[in-house]
Amino acid sequence: VMSDAPAPRPRVAVSRTGLPGAAVRRLVSRYDVTSWEGAAPPTSAELGTLVRGCEGLLVLGSDRVDAALLDAAGPGLRVVALASMGYDGVDVDAAAARGVVVTHTPDVLADTTADVAMALILMARRRLGAGMDAMRRGEWGAFRMDAFLGLDVQGATLGLIGYGQIAKALARRAAGFGMRVQHHHPRRTEDDALSRWVTFAELLRTSDVVSVHTPLTSETAGMIGAPELALMKPTATLVNTGRGGVVDEEALLTALRGGQLHSAGLDVMMNEPRTDPADPLFTEPHLVVLPHVGSATEETRAAMVELAARNIEAVLDGDRAPTPLPG
Ligand code: DGY
Repeated sequence: VMSDAPAPRPRVAVSRTGLPGAAVRRLVSRYDVTSWEGAAPPTSAELGTLVRGCEGLLVLGSDRVDAALLDAAGPGLRVVALASMGYDGVDVDAAAARGVVVTHTPDVLADTTADVAMALILMARRRLGAGMDAMRRGEWGAFRMDAFLGLDVQGATLGLIGYGQIAKALARRAAGFGMRVQHHHPRRTEDDALSRWVTFAELLRTSDVVSVHTPLTSETAGMIGAPELALMKPTATLVNTGRGGVVDEEALLTALRGGQLHSAGLDVMMNEPRTDPADPLFTEPHLVVLPHVGSATEETRAAMVELAARNIEAVLDGDRAPTPLPG
């Protein structure tokens, strides 16, 4: 005997409210959705309570997805969709052991994030942030031939650490600015029309701008430390739009203060968010900092949430997820 009662709708948890775009409304029309309504992000315990009994979970890159959270969800959990490209907050092995599909958002944010990397290159190298700060303090002064001097971007060599989508999008932009481009990736890749592969040491020694585009893993944590900064030219700029943990911040500050490095631009830091106005990273004159805004446009953030939602829908419909984690 078949019952006429509709099957219960799958339960889906969303770790924030007010996500951009229409995707969450679509999820609400299809599933029994519970969103975290708090003004602050949920703690691990709060996220665990939210996700209990759910089949799908939509989270941000800054949310921790570890074994405890997966166990808090229970055995019905089938998919964790990150509205984020980076997945260093996920215990990938714990998810695989529980048969949970984890997805992320490649493709949709590469150009937008590369824009911020290019902006940091221009800001740091041309000392544009320092110029703005001087104006705000009333220190513009008479025009001088030797005031606010930076270093040229055209003709400079850009060294990309990692050669994925964001690095390639930056290489295209840099070519338009007249830069030469080289890259290092642990797996030697073919040179292409935009960039040639070099060893890590050669990249550090010969680049005028070094830009970090590697994920944060146990191999890449702290990979730009004092010895690596010492290999760089004293006229070089370091830019990081990847993950803060790849760069040793203390070593970077020491290099900038000692004139071992021209400048740096960071969109990502260790221990985000950083809210102390006296933070040495905020007050160092040759350093430009941004609050992790690489993908922060209306269009791109909506596209990230849309892709995360499509991953949840695919898995819950029994289809292949469009963008599972690689590997
Ligand atoms: C990303 O997509 O990885 C951004 O850093 C936001 O998490």
